[in-house]
Amino acid sequence: MHRKKLAAAIIAGAAAITLAACSGGPGEAEQNKTTFRVAFNQTEQHPHYKAAVEFGKKLEKATDGRYGVEVFANETLGGQSEVVQQVSDGTVEMLYVGAPIMETFNQDFIVFNLPYVFDSQEAQAAVLYDEEIIGELWSSIEESKHITVLTALHSGTRNVYANKVINTPADMAGLKIRVQQSDSQVAMIGLMGGSASPMNFGEVYTALQSRVIDGAENNETVYNAVKHDEVARVYNYTKHLMLPDYLLMSTRALDAMSEADRAAFLDLIPELAEEADKGFVEFVAESRARSEAIGATFNEDVDVAAFKAAVEPLTKQSINNPVRQKLYDAVQKANATHPAK
Ligand code: GCU
Repeated sequence: MHRKKLAAAIIAGAAAITLAACSGGPGEAEQNKTTFRVAFNQTEQHPHYKAAVEFGKKLEKATDGRYGVEVFANETLGGQSEVVQQVSDGTVEMLYVGAPIMETFNQDFIVFNLPYVFDSQEAQAAVLYDEEIIGELWSSIEESKHITVLTALHSGTRNVYANKVINTPADMAGLKIRVQQSDSQVAMIGLMGGSASPMNFGEVYTALQSRVIDGAENNETVYNAVKHDEVARVYNYTKHLMLPDYLLMSTRALDAMSEADRAAFLDLIPELAEEADKGFVEFVAESRARSEAIGATFNEDVDVAAFKAAVEPLTKQSINNPVRQKLYDAVQKANATHPAK
């Protein structure tokens, strides 16, 4: 993977330099430790948060204390659509981002954001962890946007929730549903029968509570963790999306590391992904149980085939160039090897 070499001086302003204030004769590394900020919009209980904290500990060890991370949960560094720009500018070093946001930088990312595109978590992993398949797409934004995609992560299956049982696209009529900010997500909800309202994650609870929107769509962990289950009481298994999250890094910050430190950093990424993915499945089950305990309903009677048929035009019109076709074909191959259980 080619990465532009940039002078370390440019980076000095971008990364947070923590000067150790300890008086006991700190070593060189302690005096000049670089702490990468990781922006995250979910809670500290989320497996992605825990995996990043663990990664930071290992990184400190592997670089003799020259590098570490600080993870900022609950959108404290800002909404993803703004922070992604800061990663591009180099003013925030790392970010977990929902896949649809990536369409802003390169629309070919849309392939993995299409409804019902992956048949199973295994199929998704087979595609997203295969450098041969995703390598070019990911490096497409390094030179132009100074963003390095470090890894993708499984982030569950997304379903529609509202104060209403939804079994068919007709049940979505008149419902305003929050989506992430991208054209694919807006088009998808339209085809599913509702109308889309794109907004940052942190605004969703209040929008639901004040009835500015009628519902949202997300995985079970989000539904419970940020109390959407209090204000939208029915979680309907439309199963329309299996969207990954990406862990992004400012390419400039990565380039500013010594070759050995960068190698140590990159070596730890697969472990982070593995840990995050492992924790996720369990987190889904626990979250659902907690939502049920406060009286939220989980509707399994959704006519998924009807929703699938409704969104088909989006897939057809989105796979419209050779790059996307190749990615889409790779997904189909993975689906054949790893069908839905
Ligand atoms: C999930 C996903 C986030 C995303 C969020 C959202 O939590 O993991 O990356 O931002 O959904 O819907 O905004």
